[in-house]
Amino acid sequence: MRRCARRARPRSSFLLPSPPCCLACRCVLGAAPAAMLLPCVRSGAARRLARDLPRACSRSAQGPSLRGYSRDTAGKGLVLGVYSSEKGDGAAQFTSAGDAFDRLVSGKLRALLSLCGPPLKKGKTHIFHGLHQDFPSVVVVGLGKKNAGINEQENWNEGKENIRTAVAVGCRQIQDLEIPCVEVDPCGDAQAAAEGAVLGLHEYNELKQKKKPVVTPQLHGSAESQAWQKGVTYAEGQNLARYLMEAPANYITPIRFAEHIEQKLRTFSNVKVHIRPESWITTQEMGAFLSVAKGSAELPIFLEIHYLGSANKDDSPLVFVGKGVTFDSGGISLKPSSGMDAMRADMGGAATVCSAIVTAAALNLPLNIIGLAPLCENMPSGKANKPGDVVRAKNGKTIQVDNTDAEGRLLLADALCYAHNFNARAIVNAATLTGAMDVALGSAATGVFTNSSWLWTHLYEASILTGDRVWRMPLFEHYTKQVTDCPLADVSNIGKYSRAGGACTAAAFLKEFVTASHWAHLDIAGVMSNKDEVPYLRKGMAGRPTRTLVEFAARLSQDTHSAK
Ligand code: BES
Ligand code: ZN
Ligand code: ZN
Repeated sequence: MRRCARRARPRSSFLLPSPPCCLACRCVLGAAPAAMLLPCVRSGAARRLARDLPRACSRSAQGPSLRGYSRDTAGKGLVLGVYSSEKGDGAAQFTSAGDAFDRLVSGKLRALLSLCGPPLKKGKTHIFHGLHQDFPSVVVVGLGKKNAGINEQENWNEGKENIRTAVAVGCRQIQDLEIPCVEVDPCGDAQAAAEGAVLGLHEYNELKQKKKPVVTPQLHGSAESQAWQKGVTYAEGQNLARYLMEAPANYITPIRFAEHIEQKLRTFSNVKVHIRPESWITTQEMGAFLSVAKGSAELPIFLEIHYLGSANKDDSPLVFVGKGVTFDSGGISLKPSSGMDAMRADMGGAATVCSAIVTAAALNLPLNIIGLAPLCENMPSGKANKPGDVVRAKNGKTIQVDNTDAEGRLLLADALCYAHNFNARAIVNAATLTGAMDVALGSAATGVFTNSSWLWTHLYEASILTGDRVWRMPLFEHYTKQVTDCPLADVSNIGKYSRAGGACTAAAFLKEFVTASHWAHLDIAGVMSNKDEVPYLRKGMAGRPTRTLVEFAARLSQDTHSAK
């Protein structure tokens, strides 16, 4: 098929006298004006053209640019959203930014779109090159229905999800063209647009010599700069969790994890970070945590973060607890080798809660938060736990370790006991705890086991906004009986009917170490990684549900009613 981009053209200028045509997308550009119009091209020639243009990119995702398309925006990409036609007449329904741009180019964008075939479906794109000198490449992307809002069946805000997806797809197209800066249409919700841009462009390529070009997203226009910045901060929080989860286990060891988080929090005067060593953990009589850690040559760390965001530093804090197994081999109950590498992300609970606190600090949320992360490896060795061993948790309860691969609950048992020292408003733990959670819900939602409907409502409402959903799971006595019926100790670390209701028996086990009346356990094993289910996240570790935790904390900071 003949493609317009393959035509010879001068390299020095992007304003060409005669318009080419594009058979690939059925555009006939005879009607095109002075500016060269190159729709639907992803060729090397277009990339070179984009590269050769002048650069004026500040490399900051923060500041909005000025309206008016001045020369100092030259060389940027532009992503514009378009709604699906309401009348069914196929006419493009632009966002206000799209309308303004179309007016600026004398209606050429609308004309070109109408030549490109049927209306753009949700998340599908057309690219136009040379429409305006300040934006050599413009990606138009389908947003779906204009009036999309909360979808009661899906338990999320579909309009926001559509924006995140569309913007992520558009920004990646600009990245493929190797254009270092992209302005993004806020699409009526600048926070969602920023999240789509920053999440959609993120990739872990720290250890590769050949990296994808860095693209800096900026808000197109200046009307919603606060919401845009909020979205950038939320998404950067999730990207921090993705980074920590994706990194190899020989890079992110317990101490390196703690140092990374400490470094992120260094600039905040209202945050104190304690990196507790093994001797401290021993003093605390955290026998369950230590029994897992002793199988590895890497020393355990108990990371403790205090964020004092409330006007009163004595206000009861929200306490976050995260499972921090930096590598889970299974221990003596060794896991199969295929896919074991994914267990470098078994610190996803610690990564998401710590990243949520970093984000809360960046947003200056007015509440106190304490973060607790027991960090260690689960390895087989001569010192490792053996099936049938009995260990003693901080609250004195004895635990029979019937399966050394059910190690997360051992760390959490001690960390949850410790969490009760702080007169918490609520204790929320996150853990990649069970394969059974993945079997139950897959990657659709985090499973929430909670003894508090007040807590559940806040988590649920937060997740509708973020699109990183939660689903309530049972904490029945039925499951408790299956872990407390134990031959040698007070409680067994696996249910007596082995695999049945595995996520629920794990939650019932944790409940044995909780006396607080507002506690939630989030099993995030199913949402740990992304293949292609969440379109605005690339394949890899997902960092979910960091944004939901942040939104939840933000809501809690506004909830002045007592939680009864
Ligand atoms: N870290 C795993 C759970 C997991 C599996 C997380 C897959 C993410 C993806 C956990 O430590 C584990 O191995 N759990 C066991 C428990 C079982 C032995 C009762 C499991 O789920 O198989
Ligand atoms: Zn395990
Ligand atoms: Zn694990």
